[in-house]
Amino acid sequence: MQQPAIVAHRGASTDRPEHTIGAYELALEEGADGLECDIRLSKDGELVCVHDRTLARTSSGRGTVSALTLDELKKFDYGSWHRHGQPAGLLVLDELLELVKNTDVELFVETKHPVRYRNEVERKLAEALKRYGLDSQIVMMSFSPTAVKAFREHAPDIRTVLLLDRLGRYRGGALPSFADYTGPGVHVLRNDPGYVDRARRAGHETYVWTVDGAEDVALCRDLGVRYLATNAPANTRRLLTANLAT
Ligand code: G3P
Ligand code: CA
Repeated sequence: MQQPAIVAHRGASTDRPEHTIGAYELALEEGADGLECDIRLSKDGELVCVHDRTLARTSSGRGTVSALTLDELKKFDYGSWHRHGQPAGLLVLDELLELVKNTDVELFVETKHPVRYRNEVERKLAEALKRYGLDSQIVMMSFSPTAVKAFREHAPDIRTVLLLDRLGRYRGGALPSFADYTGPGVHVLRNDPGYVDRARRAGHETYVWTVDGAEDVALCRDLGVRYLATNAPANTRRLLTANLAT
């Protein structure tokens, strides 16, 4: 069975502040096969890489991302809050696309919802991706089926993941036609490992988040998941290799 591809979740975010260019550079140095990021729209319609709705956890700033302009967002430090952090600037999606352009890694871009600009973020993402022409390296993801559907309408050739916090109506394995891959949390697979096979039989390979521990890595490897999102790419690679040796 093929080893899962390793996707650096928010970059190498155990060792560097998430969503900083340094976190993604380290992920590449560590040999990640893919990178993951979350995107939001600033007040003036720019795509920025911030996970939370607000700035408090991951920057020196306060307030809601969507209520601030790009210039306002750029004033804050996005690195010093982390235990291995040093001052770092806001990461805009264009910077990450520039980084990916010179590599052969895949970039998994998650749009966050609910947001005040609804599916404007998917339209802007499709527009940005067209400028870069990186279609085969990009995968769009969201927990919101409406968002994935909207993106598919704007960018029919780009692969998508429907992220799932629980299986609910998708328990049988089938997904709506706008979703290529299924994206359960690893907690879903711990409770229902047979899901990966049901999804595969329905034509969907699996992207799993967030997989850092040895038991979870082994579970994903044994189930044949295609993509494994981890905060610690080098360590997860070591775990996978060790698992393969046993
Ligand atoms: O890769 C998917 C995963 O990132 C979803 O959860 O909250 O970390 O964005 P979250
Ligand atoms: Ca995410």
